[in-house]
Amino acid sequence: MTGQDLVAVAQAMVAPGKGILAADESSPTIKKRFDSIGTESTENQRRVYREMLFTTAGAAEFISGVILFDETLRQATADGTPFPEYLAAQGMLPGIKVDTGAKPLAGFPGEKITEGLDGLRERLVEYRELGAKFAKWRAVIVIGDGLPTEFCIHANAHALARYAALCQEAGIVPIVEPEVLMDGGHTIERCASVTAATLDEVFAALARHRVDLTGIVLKPNMVISGAECSERAGVEEVAEATVVCLTAHVPAAVPGIAFLSGGQSAEEATAHLSAMNRLGPHAWQLSFSYGRALQAPALQAWGGDSSAYAAGQAALIKRARLNGLARNGDYAPEMEAA
Ligand code: 13P
Repeated sequence: MTGQDLVAVAQAMVAPGKGILAADESSPTIKKRFDSIGTESTENQRRVYREMLFTTAGAAEFISGVILFDETLRQATADGTPFPEYLAAQGMLPGIKVDTGAKPLAGFPGEKITEGLDGLRERLVEYRELGAKFAKWRAVIVIGDGLPTEFCIHANAHALARYAALCQEAGIVPIVEPEVLMDGGHTIERCASVTAATLDEVFAALARHRVDLTGIVLKPNMVISGAECSERAGVEEVAEATVVCLTAHVPAAVPGIAFLSGGQSAEEATAHLSAMNRLGPHAWQLSFSYGRALQAPALQAWGGDSSAYAAGQAALIKRARLNGLARNGDYAPEMEAA
């Protein structure tokens, strides 16, 4: 891919009215999700679940791309069409999670560093051959007593930038995901200052590593109260604080910002995105790259039961459609009942 192709893919990932389905749960994470509905996490059951999501009629109208896990990238629909090929034929870009997880950062109790750089150049070549057009790497920043440390932010930004540079070298668009976790009792103001410091460090590292900002997608957290905060900010406050923070700390060269849902309920995540887009226009597209906020209702409706396949797909398309509306600020909570 040329630089121009990278830009075209990045723009397609955040095309108006659409967003990304994050379906890249690692094997331990999908097992947790399956445990919650009492279904066994076998390779075939994971394949069946992902096939249910990907073959939902009309999904491509609202879903620009799907992030896959290594195993899923190599799986196929029941009739034998490899998932990347199936998605591409529907008009959804296949993507791949390439980090190997956030591990404890030695010497920094309570903090994490994301691993997966060793051998990444070679893995990216293979992923591209398997059809991946974009990749994802998630860094995790914890807010707590005396946390995060500057060093943790720095180390994670450095790894994100090395990953992003390798992706662009391979002709793959990097999703750059620095996630400030919602866990904890912190205020929205604290989330705002940690998010700002994290974004500054990430963009400084991307510049040092000569990453072309027009060929990335940023996947940040929203600026939001901690999950255990006693007085949690409302929808309008989250939307405003997030837009203020991003406007000050994300260069306009970035084509799009696709939020993670990070433990918000499906309805909250949609309402927040819609409120932010109502505050626009912005310098970048403001989109979604939701995992749980798109999948949780579908997972529940399916419940691991083949007779509930259509119910699972109905739940997914509902969330996809409502988030598609939120891309233009056109979502209203009353639509949940329809
Ligand atoms: P959530 O939307 O569930 O946070 O997942 C998005 C994701 O891809 C996290 O890396």
